[in-house]
Amino acid sequence: MSDQANRLRQEVMKRIQPQVKVRHTKVIAVTSGKGGVGKSNVSLNFALRLVALDKEVMIIDLDVGMANVDVLMGVSPKETLVSMLEQNLTLEAVIQKGVNGLQYISGGNGIGKVFSLEGEQLNHFFKELNALHGLVDYIILDTGAGLSHEGMRFLHAADDVFLVINPEPPSITDAYGVLKALHAKDPKTPVKLIINRAISDQEAGRTAYNFQQASEKFLNKTIDILGWIPDDVMVRKAVMAQSPYILEYPNAKASEAVDQLVHTYLDLPSTYKLGVKGFLTKMLFHK
Ligand SMILES: Nc1ncnc2c1ncn2[C@@H]1O[C@H](COP(=O)(O)OP(=O)(O)O)[C@@H](O)[C@H]1O
Ligand SMILES: [Mg+2]
Repeated sequence: MSDQANRLRQEVMKRIQPQVKVRHTKVIAVTSGKGGVGKSNVSLNFALRLVALDKEVMIIDLDVGMANVDVLMGVSPKETLVSMLEQNLTLEAVIQKGVNGLQYISGGNGIGKVFSLEGEQLNHFFKELNALHGLVDYIILDTGAGLSHEGMRFLHAADDVFLVINPEPPSITDAYGVLKALHAKDPKTPVKLIINRAISDQEAGRTAYNFQQASEKFLNKTIDILGWIPDDVMVRKAVMAQSPYILEYPNAKASEAVDQLVHTYLDLPSTYKLGVKGFLTKMLFHK
């Protein structure tokens, strides 16, 4: 083929090939003060709503708690983060396909180890995480409750931290403890509050108000309220059916609330820092 024909061919190919989107991967860490408040359900349904809006999303399950994201989707992972670390696999090898094209990485048994990694294994983990930059729009870290010092590093490194609370006092005081610890390390940590399982607008409003007041009074920190999800019997039904409620019952009150939450989030001014690369830098230098 002559040079000219070759150039022409390249031009045509460029036009017919779909444009490769440049993605600025944003990292969201979902956490809480105590377990069982609904972190995994919030992470999963929030993620699926983003997927429905044409976003590429990946959940990394770092929760040692009760229902893991794979169980909530009714899928079983072939590989996990733990197997990646133990067998020195690439992160790509452990990415699993969830429902509706959602990608996920399952924690696996003993995932708590990730929070106390050192040396070679930690380097391996970071190097592999780095490879995710640009691959997806959002990485959602479903973290465990009441994190250790090491676990906290994941929260500090994220672009956004979603703090999930229930209206009950123990959930609120434990969450306040998390906020205080985050604030002590870095007052600028972008924490957004989600109230889950409120039985009415009033209860959600009161919970948010009390939390905000405490935060302002004792930490001098204004905390964003992302929204609230009602206590909805359909959530339990969906959990039992091992199908995310937003898919199983799209018209349920909880599903509508998540929809609202996602829109509120997308409308907020972006706290985007440096995505995965920024995340890694912060993870490595946070002591
Ligand atoms: N909005 C809700 N309404 C009713 N029940 C809920 C709601 N959110 C969570 N639950 C219940 O709480 C349980 C624990 O939720 P989960 O997401 O596993 O919590 P976590 O990840 O914080 O441990 C679920 O199995 C479900 O039965
Ligand atoms: Mg969980």
